[in-house]
Amino acid sequence: MSKSVINSQLICADYKKEYPKILYGKDVFLYDVNGKEYIDTCGCTAAVMSIGHGNEQIANILKEQASKLAVYPTHLFYNDELDNYLKALCEFAPEGFNKAWTISGGTEAVENSVKLAYQYHRSKGQTRTKVIGRWGSYHGNSILALDIGGMKSRRGYYTDLMVDHIHVNACHPYRKEEGMSDEQYEDMLISELQVEIEKNKDDIMCFIAEPFVGSALGAVGPTKNYFEKVHKLCRSHDILVIADEVMTGFGRTGENFGMNHFANNADILALAKGISSGYLPLGAITARDFVLEAIENTNLPFFSGQTYSCIPLAAKVGLGVLNYIKDNNLVQNSKTVGNFLKEKLATLKEEFSFVGDVRGQGLFLGIEFVKNKETKESFNPADKFAKIVEAKCLENGLVTLGAGGSNNYTAGDHLLLAPPLTLTKDHATRIYEGIRKSLGQI
Ligand SMILES: Cc1ncc(COP(=O)(O)O)c(C=O)c1O
Repeated sequence: MSKSVINSQLICADYKKEYPKILYGKDVFLYDVNGKEYIDTCGCTAAVMSIGHGNEQIANILKEQASKLAVYPTHLFYNDELDNYLKALCEFAPEGFNKAWTISGGTEAVENSVKLAYQYHRSKGQTRTKVIGRWGSYHGNSILALDIGGMKSRRGYYTDLMVDHIHVNACHPYRKEEGMSDEQYEDMLISELQVEIEKNKDDIMCFIAEPFVGSALGAVGPTKNYFEKVHKLCRSHDILVIADEVMTGFGRTGENFGMNHFANNADILALAKGISSGYLPLGAITARDFVLEAIENTNLPFFSGQTYSCIPLAAKVGLGVLNYIKDNNLVQNSKTVGNFLKEKLATLKEEFSFVGDVRGQGLFLGIEFVKNKETKESFNPADKFAKIVEAKCLENGLVTLGAGGSNNYTAGDHLLLAPPLTLTKDHATRIYEGIRKSLGQI
């Protein structure tokens, strides 16, 4: 019927695989050309769709603002739409984040967060050049974002172009050594981080992590005190902590931002995806006052800026989406319906020998599949078990995202669930039943 555009959009699509043609979406549903209805359980590949498809309110905002002013000469004017949006965004952010700046997506948000960290240190008279990232994290698809990211399947092809930033292990409680307490596990990970910091004395500008790791690991959250310990260590070396909230922001995990689960332990937030719910490409960064004050004290501007930074069209859509999230209590809904769905999915562990773990927070959930539940051995990556589940789910009317890498960053199969935050308990029950049926057919 039609061709895949996965991988490199049209330039080198996966021409071997046939996909149904999609026509339109409404709320949590997607419809193909044959009228078949699907529940969008992954929020448009991954955690983009926060307020639901086909939202008329946002469509009207787009139309109105495009008719009024889409872009303006930012070097000569300021603009109310932008000011209003940045104010609202900072009010939604944790305390101490009082300025923000917009760009067009997650990769740009991450790049600009790193640039901000670099300029922070330069402003204080130090040139630091290294980032510490974590294996099993995805931070975007530019060379820098791939380099600091740790998703081996995506970065491997480009390693010749990288300057090799530093990587430490992710905090992945399901995969910690048998018999190890959470505290011992955290201390082991912190020691690893400390070794890297000592080895690269005074050259580390920042540490970056996803509060809950999305597609790379399948909604893996850390042990309780992990981020607090990371932050304490980083602070003691003036290393800034960047939270990549591209997936976990805007209510996805049942809090405004993923880091809010951990006493707001970040200095810079990189934002995208749910920020505009896919109605227009948008990303943003915001930083704690002390970071920006260090730069402001030099009287230098932030050395960045792109054509689509701070445009009123994006600001108006961003504000519309944020207001929709607040007006409809979608953060709370994410928590309530997320807990409900997680409890239901957890029963699959009893029912199926190959369901190893069900995890996540809010409407950001993951299921890890294993060949052997006792040993947690994974399936052979070549068998692409998660992709088999994904295909079965599609047949049964669920759009899911199956991925690999949740075991040692190379093996492991998981499903990432990140449906629109408008999901009801009825929809959640349908998702559970659809997954259960699909697993039963494997
Ligand atoms: C955690 C995370 N960071 C950054 C990105 C990159 O965002 P974008 O694809 O909008 O450039 C993604 C995209 O999936 C992501 O999941």
